[in-house]
Amino acid sequence: MNTPKRIDNAPTANGYTRKWWKESVVYQIYPRSFKDSNGDGIGDLKGITSKLDYVKGLGVDVIWLSPHFDSPNADNGYDIRDYRKVMAEFGTMAEFDELLEGIKQRNLKLILDLVVNHTSDEHAWFAKSRQSKDNPYADYYIWRPEKEGHEPNDWISFFAGSAWKKDPSREEYYLHLFSEKQPDLNWDNPDVRREVHDLMKFWLDKGIDGFRMDVIPFISKDQRFPDYPKDFDGRPEYIYASGPKLHDYLQEMNREVLSKYDVMTVGEALGVTLEQTPLFVDERRHELNMIFHFDLVRLDRQGWRWKPWTLPELKAICARFDKGLDSHSWPTAYLTNHDNPRTVSHFGDDSPEYRIPSAKALATMLLTSKGTPFIYQGDELGMTNYPFASIEEYDDIEVKNTWNAEVLANHVSAEDYLDNLRKTSRDHTRTPMQWDNSPNAGFTSGAKTWFTINPNYRDINASQALTDEHSIYNYYKAIIALRKKTPAFVYGDYADIDPEHLSLFAYTRTLGAESYLIVLNFSRNEFSYTLPGGLKAESLLLSNSDSKEENTTVLHMDPWEARVYSL
Ligand code: NOJ
Repeated sequence: MNTPKRIDNAPTANGYTRKWWKESVVYQIYPRSFKDSNGDGIGDLKGITSKLDYVKGLGVDVIWLSPHFDSPNADNGYDIRDYRKVMAEFGTMAEFDELLEGIKQRNLKLILDLVVNHTSDEHAWFAKSRQSKDNPYADYYIWRPEKEGHEPNDWISFFAGSAWKKDPSREEYYLHLFSEKQPDLNWDNPDVRREVHDLMKFWLDKGIDGFRMDVIPFISKDQRFPDYPKDFDGRPEYIYASGPKLHDYLQEMNREVLSKYDVMTVGEALGVTLEQTPLFVDERRHELNMIFHFDLVRLDRQGWRWKPWTLPELKAICARFDKGLDSHSWPTAYLTNHDNPRTVSHFGDDSPEYRIPSAKALATMLLTSKGTPFIYQGDELGMTNYPFASIEEYDDIEVKNTWNAEVLANHVSAEDYLDNLRKTSRDHTRTPMQWDNSPNAGFTSGAKTWFTINPNYRDINASQALTDEHSIYNYYKAIIALRKKTPAFVYGDYADIDPEHLSLFAYTRTLGAESYLIVLNFSRNEFSYTLPGGLKAESLLLSNSDSKEENTTVLHMDPWEARVYSL
């Protein structure tokens, strides 16, 4: 039996500086769809407060709250009209303060969504900015004259069409990398940066614990606004994320704001390569703590198109990211969020037979990963993709705009687009939380909900999960608890023991003398597996099956079986 290496008081572990945010597990709440308290069919802050014991019960440490600010909701709150006001549908500032209080009382932490690449076009700054070319807000956004009768350049928006929109009052174009209701702020204007720093302090001074930063790599723009290069590969994010002043602005933000608080930051890093990652998160540079990469969650994507993926491809991404970062940089681990399909439908098997074991296998992978794990609401219940049948059932602005630009313009057939969306849509994770089997899944007491509820809520819901000792929820609880007492899962070295195996994901995590083996069957097949290199699976610490195999070099794996051994 190995003697566990104690790290409780050590300032470093395996070369990493120890930090609370490295050892935390984060739970993401999408407020619109979490819990409604007043019967209007829209989730709200009081609803979240009423469910804090549920969240705490899971064993997580930090809540990431998707935007709760005043917004006209063109993009479900990622278009902010007033950064210092709570969205009326979600409640009041007093209710936010109560939520924060409830979070603190339970020894949890809260991070907010900082959406400052763009605002809503209904923000007071934009209303003033569009009025004239010479008022104090004129340069808060990115305005350019037309070029030879056209848009200033050929940039496209992520939500289809040109990234420029002509404004009749200024007779100029403004830039919007997302919808035309989300104009991009001009970060080259020091007044804009000061405003952002101030609003960050406003929330930090209330006692929040950090930020998830929306598309933060896009804040600096090449002011020459060149057209795409000749060899442009159709992925504008790699161009938008490489602005010339980006790291100056992040360092300034750190100096002016973040360094003054004990907080965590995680940047959403669309368009950032593995090689560029240390520029954001190497702790000696004082920018951000962590970033989210898209490589794993988008391994089966080409724009809105779905493409088949294999387990060796997934494993190769994990290995590449592990090798590519040294101990000065800290990774994140996530399998979905509000912009991706449901984890079990995406990487697992959501058929009635395999939904439960595959959701547990994926939980095992997530919670034995190096890096801070992020769980998305409802994944702990094994919530699945919604069976969307027609375009009318979708809500997402990205879907609607792409439908107009691709299908209505006859570039793509309706079936082709809908077939892909069924696998890829962001709306799958935005259906309301399934709390119990009462009408509307216990999400609201009202007759209507803002978005459709998955009909499988009668079987898949929190009330069932809490009482069933074999539920996915209880498995999450167990694997989170195991992570908490096993520093090797947080800081240990990672080694994939069989990268080419088509069905088995098997890896070790090692910290000093402590070593663990994780084996995950990513398929419906049963098979025997002989551990390579003289490895022996010793004590079984956790599994999603009845298997009791221990002290063995040969494993008999059931479909979607997951086991965690000490070595
Ligand atoms: C990323 C957010 O996660 C997504 O939901 C949003 O649509 C875009 N950024 C624009 O803010």
